[in-house]
Amino acid sequence: MTGLVVPAQHNPLAEGLEHLPVHPTVMVLFGATGDLARRKLLPAIYELAHDGALPERFHLVGVARSAETSDEYRRQAAIAIRRFSRRAPDEAVLQRLLDEVEYVSGAFADPGVYDRLGGILHHCDEVAGWPMNRCLYLATAPAFFATIVDELGAHGLARRADADVRVVVEKPFGRTLQEARQLNRRMLAVFEERQIFRIDHYLGKETVQNLLALRFANQLFEPVWNRNYVDHVQITAAEEVGVGSRAGFYDQTGALRDLIQNHLLQLLCHVAMEPPARFGADDVRNEKVKVLQAIRPPASWEIQRRAVRAQYGPGFVGGDAVPGYLEEEGVPPDSTTETYAALRLSVDNWRWAGVPFYVRTGKRLARKKTEIAVELRPVPHLSFAADGAAPVTPNTIVLSIQPDEGVSVSVAAKIPGPRMRLRSVLMQFLYGTTFLSDSPEAYERLLLDAMRGDATLFTRDDEVEAQWRICDPVLRAWEAMGGALPQYAAGSQGPDEAATILIPGHEWRMI
Ligand code: BG6
Repeated sequence: MTGLVVPAQHNPLAEGLEHLPVHPTVMVLFGATGDLARRKLLPAIYELAHDGALPERFHLVGVARSAETSDEYRRQAAIAIRRFSRRAPDEAVLQRLLDEVEYVSGAFADPGVYDRLGGILHHCDEVAGWPMNRCLYLATAPAFFATIVDELGAHGLARRADADVRVVVEKPFGRTLQEARQLNRRMLAVFEERQIFRIDHYLGKETVQNLLALRFANQLFEPVWNRNYVDHVQITAAEEVGVGSRAGFYDQTGALRDLIQNHLLQLLCHVAMEPPARFGADDVRNEKVKVLQAIRPPASWEIQRRAVRAQYGPGFVGGDAVPGYLEEEGVPPDSTTETYAALRLSVDNWRWAGVPFYVRTGKRLARKKTEIAVELRPVPHLSFAADGAAPVTPNTIVLSIQPDEGVSVSVAAKIPGPRMRLRSVLMQFLYGTTFLSDSPEAYERLLLDAMRGDATLFTRDDEVEAQWRICDPVLRAWEAMGGALPQYAAGSQGPDEAATILIPGHEWRMI
């Protein structure tokens, strides 16, 4: 039977990425041979090419230390794209993209690199017959951010008459509040804030943006979205993977800096913010900053009751035995870096006073799961209790970000039969089945926005500092405590200690 199947191309919900006009652009990728470039950025650029979403005139210049020719770099880029892109590459599209790729080799502090880069940019303008926009992407180790920015400024590459120059900066943006402030100052000495795009790839995820649609384009949720109806909020980013080949970076970073300071606080902002009057970059970011400012950083005496950290020990993931963090290659055996972190935060404003916001993240947990769960208060009185109705769990609105993108609401329903017995059932919307397509990768959307100059999904200077202000005291207290960390078995739900920060009556959701 075929009659009822609507082909994807005729389904109005299956439209995919819209084609928005983008000014001719040269993208310069600093850290072009790194992990991020190979796994995420080059494949995302390819995907944009695949969708015809790149500007009609586009050129990519990779910059990195390793001594390679442009030909060698093109070969490497092709390998990375074939391995990591979402869809099997179309060879003709890939070839056209590779024809626009070249490579500059040299140390980031070497002025010669910027002279060569300047020459290439000038040549691109000449070939195009008009000045092309520049999108300068810093995907290097954070230690190089300030150096690169200084050199760009010194070589006159931070501005171009009749074109836009934008700089995209990866995370982590500093390791402390003080470092973030210093980096902001260094960058703002060379670029204007409107030119700076601090990337947080969680903001490019479809479900994260959908949270705003859900809240602000439906009458249904907003009336209950406050302290009168919401009991608590749980934000989880659980990962099954361990540190893999990133031990060097991770051991200097830890779970709080790696995911909570940026991604999870951003998710929290989306849950807690007031509706902006317009969906403009500053309108949205103003509202998020207000949320961050309403979060009181935990005082040192509260840290034990509000923050938990732990490290994964050996265990089993997907049936395979895996080593503990301290046995991972490249991790010092006495490391006190946390691979799990959980916080209880409160947003001290009119809407949220008294509602706990729990955030947690960890590597080597039972499975990959990123979600926001908003649990409502229980009903004040259950009339059917005498009829065996209990237990009815309170309504929970869950935004599932990964792996199954969608929204579900648990509601109590009657079990068929003569008695009034109830149980929780799910009302669910899944992206995959509704829109019949995979969501684009976050980096695809964000690269496009950076090229178009739309900063709505990027973090502003005051925002990143406000995020650090919340995390700094916790990091300082943990550093001062030192000592061996609690352990949790790889593949488990996390450390038992995580329960100590919950308000009595609350439980962590299953991962
Ligand atoms: C990155 C972190 O920012 O986010 C990684 O540095 C983490 O450690 C990753 O694995 C998770 O991203 P995603 O999109 O897979 O949830």
